[in-house]
Amino acid sequence: MVEFALPPNSRIKPGKTWPGPQGASKGAANVKAFRIYRWDPESGANPTLDTFHIDLDDCGPMVLDALIKIKNEIDPTLTFRRSCREGICGSCAMNIDSDNTLACLKPISEVKGSVDIYPLPHMPVVKDLVPDLTHVYAQYEMIQPWMKTDTPAPTSGERLQSPEERAKLDGLWECVLCFCCSTACPSYWWNAERYLGPAILLQAARWVFDSRDEATGERLDMLDDPFRMYRCHTIMNCTATCPKGLNPGKAIADLKVAMFERAV
Ligand code: SF4
Ligand code: SF4
Ligand code: FES
Repeated sequence: MVEFALPPNSRIKPGKTWPGPQGASKGAANVKAFRIYRWDPESGANPTLDTFHIDLDDCGPMVLDALIKIKNEIDPTLTFRRSCREGICGSCAMNIDSDNTLACLKPISEVKGSVDIYPLPHMPVVKDLVPDLTHVYAQYEMIQPWMKTDTPAPTSGERLQSPEERAKLDGLWECVLCFCCSTACPSYWWNAERYLGPAILLQAARWVFDSRDEATGERLDMLDDPFRMYRCHTIMNCTATCPKGLNPGKAIADLKVAMFERAV
């Protein structure tokens, strides 16, 4: 059975409430409630929203700090991805306070009221806050994210770029493949089987605009399809949500211009 993450405003039944060792029951003064989506495929039960009470005076400042504290001190079965803890690996992407973002970059202090946490929307869920990324990674493979060349490598060593050529990759190379953008895109929600979505298209742009790559025409041919790229309707949810401050909507627009320019 596959469970799809429900939109944060859906009516998921409340689950357990955990005071926790540092919670309100111990008389802590600075307590915050974290309401977290829980679903265990092995239980056979429907998803619930569990509530955990955390003493913020005994917790790090970011939402990921609270999740780690809950897992370490209250409920070790709480399941989520994380690695770097500094916005580099992209693995702690989830929906927090109705925005897709990285838990390690989201200050708890920015959330008024309870901190509501769901998996990335419109993705199959593996367990709790862990989305199944099999499909998006298959789409990533489709764009062949490596340098493709026909000419032999220079005997002197590296394939060089001018500073101007290198600057064309700024705003693209920084992407951490968190998929916050694709899972915020209405076109991707409804056409994920055929539309590549903003994360994969930004990655495609990273190779199309790399002066050292020699497969530009082949890459544009692959994107020249009614669904793969042209399902972007410039709604810009992707750009609004990117936790790295990137602009996938512009990257897609630049790809469309490149496609147009080679046709005239
Ligand atoms: S600009 Fe395109 S990719 Fe970004 S949210 Fe809108 S439709 Fe999706
Ligand atoms: S463009 Fe931004 S939101 Fe999209 S995958 Fe890359 S880092 Fe994440
Ligand atoms: S833990 Fe790596 S981006 Fe959050």
